[in-house]
Amino acid sequence: MEKRNLGTIEVSKIGMGTMAFSHGYGKIPERQYSIDAIRAAFEYGCTFFDTAEAYGAQLYYEGHNEEIVGEALKDVRKNAVLATKFHFKPEDCGKGTDLYTSIRRHLEKSLSRLQTDYVDLYYLHRTNSRVPVEDVAEAMGRLIKDGIIRGWGLSQVSGDTLKRADQVTPVSAVQNLYNILERDCEDDIFPYCVERGIGVVPFSPIASGLLSGKITVDTEFEKVDDVRSWVPQLTRENIAGNQPILDIIQGYADKKDATNAQISLAWMLHKYPNVVPIPGSKNKERILENLGADQVTFTDEEFTALETALAGCKVHGHRGHVEEEGKGFLNKEPLR
Ligand SMILES: NC(=O)c1ccc[n+]([C@@H]2O[C@H](COP(=O)([O-])OP(=O)(O)OC[C@H]3O[C@@H](n4cnc5c(N)ncnc54)[C@H](OP(=O)(O)O)[C@@H]3O)[C@@H](O)[C@H]2O)c1
Repeated sequence: MEKRNLGTIEVSKIGMGTMAFSHGYGKIPERQYSIDAIRAAFEYGCTFFDTAEAYGAQLYYEGHNEEIVGEALKDVRKNAVLATKFHFKPEDCGKGTDLYTSIRRHLEKSLSRLQTDYVDLYYLHRTNSRVPVEDVAEAMGRLIKDGIIRGWGLSQVSGDTLKRADQVTPVSAVQNLYNILERDCEDDIFPYCVERGIGVVPFSPIASGLLSGKITVDTEFEKVDDVRSWVPQLTRENIAGNQPILDIIQGYADKKDATNAQISLAWMLHKYPNVVPIPGSKNKERILENLGADQVTFTDEEFTALETALAGCKVHGHRGHVEEEGKGFLNKEPLR
């Protein structure tokens, strides 16, 4: 697969989100199935894998997902780019806490679960108002110097937070919500990142499945640990309201002999040179389908027509950047 850069880190232009093997979309597959699916993605040409220490903590245990990713990729480690995330715990945020030591403690646990001695890309999962992002940047700079992370990133941040952090230690990538229905990043994140060579790694690039066209007003989500029960575009009214957008995507899929999910990914790959989406799925066939979006291209005319058609539609439901611990893991919005 073609490559793109997140700062100086080279990755396949489509990555893989592995969260759903541990968290966020209801029941999980057998562990060996998940491991095999990750390996199938690697064999296809995907070199970029996204996990987090938090994935699994809600129903299983912290690090559940990192263990699966580590097991799947341990013998091809040097050819894979591993991204993981830490989140602040109350003991990391108290007065007199040495941030570098705290973050390093999180990282060392991740290294052990990932069966590696370095992480390629280490993100702060959510900012915290008690911890200046500049201090996090400084600590991340020390970890880079230590040689145990290659680069660092932020998740669900505004352009302002990104700039403040980037001035202290250059950021490799920002992982924010971005897809055809959630475009806040176009205002503040993309312009800055394109200029600075920072990668943008959209999470939920298929809008939690909605853009695949496989979700209808009658789809029942799972009762436990399923983010689709609160994603704003996925209420019955909003699924119906967003149908004109789904119809446009379907039209392009028919024309290009592609699937709707592939069109949604190819759309952002065409739009920005520094974007590397990380679609997530628990299903091996769909994982390979999504990676196959690397073969779907638009002419500039086709892309402009698509953007114009989309611009004519009202989006129903908006989540946006959810920054700060007040809405993050420690609090209201479930961490994903
Ligand atoms: N930084 C953060 O705060 C944050 C937040 C959320 C996610 N993430 C990362 O981003 C990754 C992707 O995000 P996401 O999983 O929330 O959203 P997503 O990739 O937009 O969508 C996942 C959903 O779409 C379905 N799906 C995927 N491909 C499909 C296809 N080709 N056809 C039909 N349905 C398809 C999946 O169902 P099936 O499993 O049944 O295929 C699943 O329900 C995660 O794995 C995680 O690594 C990070």
